[in-house]
Amino acid sequence: MIKEIGGISLKKVVAVNSSKRKYNTYRALESMRPIFESEGIEYEIINLHDYKINYCNGCETCIKKDYCPIDDDVNKINERLVQASGIVLSTPVYMENISGILKTFIDRNCKWYHRSDLLGETMSLPCHNERQRVKKRA
Ligand SMILES: Cc1cc2nc3c(=O)[nH]c(=O)nc-3n(C[C@H](O)[C@H](O)[C@H](O)COP(=O)(O)O)c2cc1C
Repeated sequence: MIKEIGGISLKKVVAVNSSKRKYNTYRALESMRPIFESEGIEYEIINLHDYKINYCNGCETCIKKDYCPIDDDVNKINERLVQASGIVLSTPVYMENISGILKTFIDRNCKWYHRSDLLGETMSLPCHNERQRVKKRA
């Protein structure tokens, strides 16, 4: 029963795939679909690589004035996240970190930490890696 998490009623969950491939990370997100849909929760996956996402230019306008002057697709994605009651941010592990595009997307949403549109939403961050194949050098 996941219709309610921490007192928040889940009606719609939007999952964000930050791998360019529709492979391990995407599959992990797809594996959640039947769990949500079996409880009548709408479920949508957004692929960050389908959108134009520029780097943050560090102007802090989002924090000070509540808008971003960069003209790209970030606002389009955010509109869909704001409509959701639950958000899943997912990433492949790249160099023991999150993917570059997810970091850029989070940087562009720095205002979430200061003046959040997402207050009250549930969020999770699944990460995907494969068996560590790097061996120590002799
Ligand atoms: C550039 C790059 C860096 C990676 N760095 C790590 C790493 O530090 N640790 C790890 O366990 N796997 C690492 N991997 C493996 C990926 O996390 C793994 O293959 C993941 O499942 C890929 O997700 P995807 O299939 O959704 O693209 C790396 C892969 C790439 C392409």
